[in-house]
Amino acid sequence: MNIVSTVNEVRYAVKEWKQNGLKIGLVPTMGFLHEGHLSLIKKAVSENDRVIVSIFVNPTQFGPNEDFETYPRDLNKDVDLCREAGADLIFHPEPEEMYPDGFCTSVNMTGLTDALCGKSRPVHFQGVCTVVSKLFNITTPDNAYFGEKDAQQLAIIRRMVKDLNFDIKITGCPIVREEDGLAKSSRNTYLNPEERCAALVLSKAVKLGVQLVESGETSSEVILKQMKEVIDNEPLARIDYIEIVDMNTMKNTDTIKGDVLCAMAVYIGKTRLIDNFIHHAD
Ligand code: PAJ
Repeated sequence: MNIVSTVNEVRYAVKEWKQNGLKIGLVPTMGFLHEGHLSLIKKAVSENDRVIVSIFVNPTQFGPNEDFETYPRDLNKDVDLCREAGADLIFHPEPEEMYPDGFCTSVNMTGLTDALCGKSRPVHFQGVCTVVSKLFNITTPDNAYFGEKDAQQLAIIRRMVKDLNFDIKITGCPIVREEDGLAKSSRNTYLNPEERCAALVLSKAVKLGVQLVESGETSSEVILKQMKEVIDNEPLARIDYIEIVDMNTMKNTDTIKGDVLCAMAVYIGKTRLIDNFIHHAD
């Protein structure tokens, strides 16, 4: 496995692979890898001849008061995990390589990016779209893999690929959870033991929501009310948002109809965690 930090080195490797007709998969990450990321890498390895994992804590998707500086990093461990999972190339650029002096272009989307996480993180998705576009152009993969853990991000990337004619197949992968239900996240390391316990309200609420939908409940209001109760019962938890939206438009929907996303962001102490479930049309 090769570890490179410049765009040119990636292009060089990719060119050779393409000359040999090899199929390329890309897994974009911000590192501090866990089983959630690894599930994407393994899926990519199973479907491609060569797999690139990008590890880049992207400054432009963090707001001014967010955790860019403190975001956890452990490149050595990430390298071992990528190697074990069967990746072929790690692209680990410095911010200056991705955003050199004078950089002033960005990919901006409207609508989908204003809902859910976009409300409390106004610059977030513009940063995500810009960096993912750059990664797509640098690596020119056949396939790219994203987690349903970040369901809004996945919907936005799918839309961007369609709108900007990227010739890349996007594959969504299911949420990987800890044994007790907490969705795996690099940010879980911020939680102290008491908060770690309190964080279970997210997955408990998700489980309840899934049960309600499966038992035939179709009113978003009824489902959200019961899910909110679970979270509100936990003193360390504070809801940023919990909403049921149409999966394609990210607009609120009163009833469970078609493909819907029930998504939440909840502060546990100072840590903002997200979780969701997706219900597909029958
Ligand atoms: P990051 O949070 O590192 O996540 C990288 C990918 O792993 C994303 O597609 C995310 O949805 C997926 N992922 C994270 N936790 C997961 C879990 N528990 N189960 C399944 N998949 C999971 O998302 C980003 O980085 C960035 O925004 C990025 C796309 C790399 C752009 O900077």
